[in-house]
Amino acid sequence: MTEAMLDVQDLYKIHGGSGEDHPVLRGVTFRVEPGEFVCIMGPSGSGKTTLLHLLSGLDEPSAGQVHLGGVDLTHAGERRRTVVRRDQVGYVFQFFHLMPNLTVEENIGLPLAIAGRSVKSQSGRITELAKTLGIEERLGALPHELSGGEMQRASIARALIGGQPLLLCDEPTGNLSQAAGREVMEELRRACDDEGRTVVLVTHSPRDATFADRVLLLVDGEMRAEEELRGPGLTEDDIHAALNRASI
Ligand SMILES: Nc1ncnc2c1ncn2[C@@H]1O[C@H](COP(=O)(O)OP(=O)(O)O)[C@@H](O)[C@H]1O
Ligand SMILES: [Mg+2]
Repeated sequence: MTEAMLDVQDLYKIHGGSGEDHPVLRGVTFRVEPGEFVCIMGPSGSGKTTLLHLLSGLDEPSAGQVHLGGVDLTHAGERRRTVVRRDQVGYVFQFFHLMPNLTVEENIGLPLAIAGRSVKSQSGRITELAKTLGIEERLGALPHELSGGEMQRASIARALIGGQPLLLCDEPTGNLSQAAGREVMEELRRACDDEGRTVVLVTHSPRDATFADRVLLLVDGEMRAEEELRGPGLTEDDIHAALNRASI
C-alpha cells in the first residue's frame, strides 16, 4: 500500500469549556490517498471545522492519531507540526483569517514569505491566481474593504499559492454566488487533476460535492461508512439522497 496523504485513526476531540463530557468527534477513522479529492459533509456543528484543524495539526486531538504525509502529527511536537503544516498544507479557513493590515496581494503572498521564498518572483503567479478568482482589481485593497465573497477568494488564492500537496478547504464557496462558486470548484479540481494535489473539501453544497472522487458523511461525531459515495460521475441527486438517508 502506498503511503497515505492522510491517515486518521480513531480520532476523538473533546473541546474544553462547556460540554466537556461530550466529544465532538468520536472515533473518526479514514484515509485519503495522494491525489484524491475527498469531500466531507455533515450538519452544522457536527465537527467538520474541528476535524480540519486536527488534520492540519492546528489543534490536538483528545485521543487518536493523524499521520500527514507519513508524519505522526500527534507525537510531532509544536515546532515540527508548524513546519509540516507550512510545507504540506494549503488551508482555506471558513472565516478567512486574512491579516487586517496587509493588502490582498500581501495576504496572498504571505505563505511564500513565511516559507522564506521570494514573493516578488512569484508576483506573476499571484496576479494570475487573482485573475482566475476574479479579484485582480482588489490586489491593493485591505481586507476590511472587501466583500465576504472577495475575502473568501483572497483566502483561496493564499491557500493555492504555495503549491503544497494537501489542500484543506473549509466551506470555500459559502460566501460566493453560484457562478463564482463553480469557478472555485473547477480551480480546485484542476489543482487535483493537473498538479496532483490532494483536496479535502468541507461543504454544504451538493453541487460542490459532485467535484469530488469520494464523499464522506460526518454524523454524530462519526464517519458514516455505509453512506460513503464514490465517483466518478456523482450527481447532485446521489448526494441529496445520501444526505436524506443520513437525515442531514
Ligand atoms: N474552540 C472550541 N471550544 C469549545 N467548543 C468548540 C470549539 N470549537 C468548536 N466547538 C464546538 O464543537 C462543535 C463542532 O464545531 P465545528 O467543528 O465548528 O462544527 P462544524 O464546522 O461542523 O459546523 C460545536 O458544538 C462547537 O460549538
Ligand atoms: Mg465549520
